[in-house]
Amino acid sequence: MSIVKTKYSLEDTNLFKSIRLGTKELKNRAVFAPSTRSRSAPGDVPSDLMLKYYEDRSKDNGGLIITEGTFVSKEASGYSGAPGIYTLQQAKAWKLITDKIHKHGTFVSCQLWNLGRAADPFELKERGVPYVAPSVVYPNEDAEIAARKSGVELQALTLKQIEEFKKAYIEAAKYAINVSNFDYVEIHSAHGYFLDQFLEPSTNHRTDKYGGSIENRARLVLEIIDSLIKEIGADKIGIRVSPWAEFGGMKGENESIHPIVGIGYLLSELQQRANKGNELAYISIVEPRVNAGFTIPLENLKDYKQLKSNLWIYQIWRGNIIRAGAYLTDREDNYQLIRNDVNANNRTLIAFSRYYTSNPDLVKRLKYGLELTPYDRPTFYTHTNYHYGDWTFYGQENKSKPEDEESKKLPVALVSA
Ligand code: PHB
Repeated sequence: MSIVKTKYSLEDTNLFKSIRLGTKELKNRAVFAPSTRSRSAPGDVPSDLMLKYYEDRSKDNGGLIITEGTFVSKEASGYSGAPGIYTLQQAKAWKLITDKIHKHGTFVSCQLWNLGRAADPFELKERGVPYVAPSVVYPNEDAEIAARKSGVELQALTLKQIEEFKKAYIEAAKYAINVSNFDYVEIHSAHGYFLDQFLEPSTNHRTDKYGGSIENRARLVLEIIDSLIKEIGADKIGIRVSPWAEFGGMKGENESIHPIVGIGYLLSELQQRANKGNELAYISIVEPRVNAGFTIPLENLKDYKQLKSNLWIYQIWRGNIIRAGAYLTDREDNYQLIRNDVNANNRTLIAFSRYYTSNPDLVKRLKYGLELTPYDRPTFYTHTNYHYGDWTFYGQENKSKPEDEESKKLPVALVSA
């Protein structure tokens, strides 16, 4: 089929210029943002459905795919359907996926995930692991009720448990780079998950070296990064932060210490490491227009243009920045937001999640300005192949129906135990 470029084409922007991340040269700056889609097989093993899903999104691309949140250990889990990278079986299954992605000249980062207080206590009970966080502060009342009912109540981490989690990050990253052949690992330090729970004062009441001051609250994530720099090299590491997000019971700008101060310190420390020759491949930031996967209604954002912005990050961190959050909601303005942000300098990448789910060839559609297929949020976190592996490429009709055999398929482990 011959493709006709439309007025929405972004081909002339920096989005379609190459960029170096660490030692790799990406062909474009359009990134698949990390997106939980719950299609891993039992035992947190990457599945056949995931293989096709990631391969489809790597075709005709050449940019960067960041995986969905991937557990660094069984103790970091507590959510069904998300994959892990804490056993050799899981790492070998991921290798089959990265091989397909690399075959198409596309790059891939493994997002290293740990839930902390965001875990489901019933799921933890089934897995026989404790429910832990920096301090005993539940994300909301429902979580507290679920914890009481399940008998698995939230406990403050001991120093020994913190040491074990540090090791888990290192082991998972070594699996990711040395066994699964990922190009990068990304430390998930956003959205109210484990490491973010350390960063913010409302979720961290510790009185040891991991709590109290800004330096102490950022200590764990920096210790993990420093160990990873030694083990795999700074050029293979990314980190994600979400200064504004009020997701998962976090307070965002209503924290007692504004997140710009705390996250600013963390980024300043990372820049110090860069100045000494250990520059991370990228920093990934979430825009204030979204709360994780949800666009904040415009009427709640009246003051957004004046007040909330991530531009301060550019002044502290001098390296590559991946920005994500509702960049595709308004096409009629000719994708002006993408144009402005990606063209503002030579170190910005833009990441997309929701429309990347329903448009496997999103990068090509943006290049030529082609119509986007709307996404279907109710199927984001279901477990069958319906509205997961069945999204079609531009110009192909999507005929799949929930009752089709192909749609009803459940994930099967790519590598057996
Ligand atoms: C989600 O599963 O909705 C989710 C996971 C990770 C995030 C944000 C949202 O960072």
